[in-house]
Amino acid sequence: MRLYEYEVPRAAQILATDVLGLRPGEVVAVTADTESDMQVVEAVAAAAHACGAKPLVITMPSPTGVGKAADAALPVEALGAVLSKVNAWVEFNNEWLLYSTPFEIARANNPRLRYLCLVGMNVDMMVRTVGRVDHHTLREFMNRVTDLTKSARVVHVTTPAGTDVRFENDPTRLYSCDTGAANVPGVHFLSGQISWAPIHDTIEGIIVFDGTISPPINRLVDAPVHLGVRRGRVVEITGGRDAIRYQAWLASFDDPNMFRLAHIAYGFNPGARLTGNVLEDERVWGVTEWGLGYLQPIDAPPDGIQAKSHTDGICLNSSVWLDGIELLHEGRVVHPELLELARKLETA
Ligand SMILES: [Fe+2]
Repeated sequence: MRLYEYEVPRAAQILATDVLGLRPGEVVAVTADTESDMQVVEAVAAAAHACGAKPLVITMPSPTGVGKAADAALPVEALGAVLSKVNAWVEFNNEWLLYSTPFEIARANNPRLRYLCLVGMNVDMMVRTVGRVDHHTLREFMNRVTDLTKSARVVHVTTPAGTDVRFENDPTRLYSCDTGAANVPGVHFLSGQISWAPIHDTIEGIIVFDGTISPPINRLVDAPVHLGVRRGRVVEITGGRDAIRYQAWLASFDDPNMFRLAHIAYGFNPGARLTGNVLEDERVWGVTEWGLGYLQPIDAPPDGIQAKSHTDGICLNSSVWLDGIELLHEGRVVHPELLELARKLETA
């Protein structure tokens, strides 16, 4: 018997209906590479077929890089052409196509495309982060957290590892809320993350990454990495060997904007666990995540942050105050308006 043989079809059904909202006759591409977990791929194709949709599974050799670094290994035009003609696309590639040229061709030619990024997904993660999640409750909870966050001016974040950072919000900016509602055109990700760019030069304090840093560490850090932050810029990095490596990696770009804080995010997928895979780690319930470096102009108009690369780090068990009212206490939701929904999700 294969791992989670009974649970995976159920998770795939939830993905096809609650997440993608597939309708009879729609064409859904399911892409994978030779590093993908094919049990997940087959289950989603079968669930799409059971909905009356027309699944098209496309498996390719694994490139040795992601995004545009994968282009040279890809049948760029053929892949771009197929993806320009589908209604929905679920990406399970491990060496991901997100931001590759075929992805850009599909987005440019197919404005109604519903793209769902589930790169590196395996059966265990699928059952925990999709199959056992109450998506309707999670959506309601996350939309309320987004509204509360957007309306707060001053945010204060601490963690048991030593994070103590404050910043101000700009309510006119984009607050990206990944609720798992991939039933509308656009680029969608695994549910359970809310990300936004604060007013950058108000970010002051200490941020301690005690989870994953990706890139360049790409696993849990050997010791907490302390970032001293002044006016939105990292001015000091201390910790163990990974801190030294991180400092050297950031400096290697010879780009001062690589030391700028770009965005913060909350993690709110009740099934996510700390595994060393950043896509899952950044959705662990009650973490905060900070991105450094490049930021799209749409996230902080007019310019975003023009930097040569981007990196994300995780702060576990975060406490968050919104204008002095506590939202999270060491990773658990304590805001009175959210308690009921959170308890339903935290204990599901
Ligand atoms: Fe990021």
